[in-house]
Amino acid sequence: MKGFKLVSLLVFLTTMCIDSGSATKCYACTSVTNQECEKMSNVSAITVLDCPDETPVCIKLVVAGTTTRLCENESTCATYDKASGTTCKSCTTDLCNAANSKFIPHYTVSIGILAALYASLKLLF
Ligand SMILES: *[C@@H]1O[C@H](CO)[C@@H](O)[C@H](O)[C@H]1NC(C)=O
Ligand SMILES: *[C@@H]1O[C@H](CO)[C@@H](O)[C@H](O)[C@H]1NC(C)=O
Repeated sequence: MKGFKLVSLLVFLTTMCIDSGSATKCYACTSVTNQECEKMSNVSAITVLDCPDETPVCIKLVVAGTTTRLCENESTCATYDKASGTTCKSCTTDLCNAANSKFIPHYTVSIGILAALYASLKLLF
């Protein structure tokens, strides 16, 4: 019985991970044409995109005072990191490229999942 519960839990967790990884939604805008893109004080003025599979990562890029938010891939920010006066942040949950505080490093999410797993195991057994 214990084995069955453990398998169910693992299937559940795996399903959750797969679901959250597909068709991420990201804000897509540039402050060149939309000042709200920088301030994000009125998100209803910002386009929301269902990201294609090739670019499933939301980024916020600031180059020379211009803010851009869009769907990109994991490697995009690495190409901007070196340039001075440039910041690029990426994240993988729906609409996570909204505000600075919403960017959660991947390792924090992993620790959260591990903590949740540990708590579930203690509850079940
Ligand atoms: C927010 O943006 C929407 C869409 O552009 C606009 O209709 C609405 O009036 C704006 N609201 C405020 C408070 O500026
Ligand atoms: C990431 O996107 C850039 C530009 O959008 C593209 O040139 C590059 O090949 C992509 N890399 C991967 C790993 O998909």
